[in-house]
Amino acid sequence: IPVQSFDLVLFGATGDLARRKILPSLFHRFQLGQFCDSSRIIGASRSEMDADSFRELVADAVREFGQKDEVNDKDITAFVAQLDYVAIDAKGDQGWEELGKHMRPDKVRAFYLSVAPSLFGDIATRLRSTGIATDDSRIVVEKPFGHDLASAQALNQALRANFEESQIYRIDHYLGKETVQNLMALRFANSLFEPLWNSSHIDHVQITVAESIGVEGRGEYYDRSGAMRDMVQNHLMQLLCLTAMEPPGKFTPDAVRNEKVKVIEALEPVENSDIARGQYRAQNNTGSYRDHAGDPNSQTESFIAMKVQVANWRWAGTPFYLRTGKRLRERVSEIAVFFRDPPHNIFQGSDPAKGNVLVIRLQPDEGITLHTTIKDPGPGGMRLTEAALDMTFADSLAEAERPQDAYERLIMDVIRGNQTLFMRGDEVEAAWAWADPIISGWDDPRHAPQPYDTGGSGPEDSLLLLHRDGRRWRRIG
Ligand code: BG6
Repeated sequence: IPVQSFDLVLFGATGDLARRKILPSLFHRFQLGQFCDSSRIIGASRSEMDADSFRELVADAVREFGQKDEVNDKDITAFVAQLDYVAIDAKGDQGWEELGKHMRPDKVRAFYLSVAPSLFGDIATRLRSTGIATDDSRIVVEKPFGHDLASAQALNQALRANFEESQIYRIDHYLGKETVQNLMALRFANSLFEPLWNSSHIDHVQITVAESIGVEGRGEYYDRSGAMRDMVQNHLMQLLCLTAMEPPGKFTPDAVRNEKVKVIEALEPVENSDIARGQYRAQNNTGSYRDHAGDPNSQTESFIAMKVQVANWRWAGTPFYLRTGKRLRERVSEIAVFFRDPPHNIFQGSDPAKGNVLVIRLQPDEGITLHTTIKDPGPGGMRLTEAALDMTFADSLAEAERPQDAYERLIMDVIRGNQTLFMRGDEVEAAWAWADPIISGWDDPRHAPQPYDTGGSGPEDSLLLLHRDGRRWRRIG
């Protein structure tokens, strides 16, 4: 369904994220007819260049980072014809008047800040004081949204001094992933799972976001963040919230986000004894984390696993184990819900508890698998084995359009004015309020990250975290 005609200003338009994700995503939505000829994308950044050079830069970015089998020159030419460019100084006067001239009445106005968070306040203030942003304009900001609670509060203040909360779209691209939304459909559009979705029936939940890549090229940023700030406080937290939240009364942005905030507020503080931190070491020809971070003594974690308790009626007694790391065996993101063993085993000599796991896969092979226990087919008596009820979206939806990339969906939601898949200010602050005390003890050398090998499943302590509870991680890949 086409969206309303818009003027989208992309600050940081020549930056890495814009080239890799935002511009190719816009191209694909354009290709699918989602925005009309009168819509405009205006690149804005410090670099002095004319509109044609910007169009060339965008065409190159689409060729390099777009979906290879869908990119073609004809569509690229049509797409870049809708682009314009303004060289602008976020902190000074240059470019603002010209940007103002590009804005047309009766269009949805969206300002996408793909820039360092230290510029959010300056840009938001300029947009307002020049009148370029109006009362129904939208402002979109990228992560990292703060480094801790105080900096997140300062960013919120700077944005709210100029825009209403209903105009602010804080991106967490995990919320735009197909399976993440399917998790909500699975839970709230089926009556099968919800009666079982509590600590009486669920033993524990494992949330894994494993990556095979390292931090090459991003060492400097990453070393100031680590896995906790880069992944857990935002992406894994969002997955935890959607898994644990109560059914909202309706599917509206605030009803959904109210329920997510309640989950974060119910999280118990996490002790260091419930955390395993790791750092990948050098192997074969690949450098170590410290080589990439550029600090031979770095104590930043490239892996973290932790046991989290949601202290409320539904989840008391059901731990959530979270883990994420770089340079692991494979790129796998999943939520695995382990149901409790049947209360009584009538199949003597055979273990019925091999199945009973619901796996929601975010990537690769997005889909949902229910591992069940069945009779081993054939003679040999009543022996049990595991069988999977598998729904890989790519197979079952073969005829349909390919699933949208997270950014495609999220940018179109901005134009539509739908905030459901964006983080609200109080949500981000609650997540930092939970994360800050955890991080604060890590200067202590006793909590230094443990080295781990590339291509494995993280440090030994991560395995122990579950072993001591009589549980095991699912294998990565
Ligand atoms: C980003 C992190 O937010 O998410 C990266 O900064 C990480 O470190 C990336 O690699 C993972 O996203 P995806 O979509 O590839 O799982």
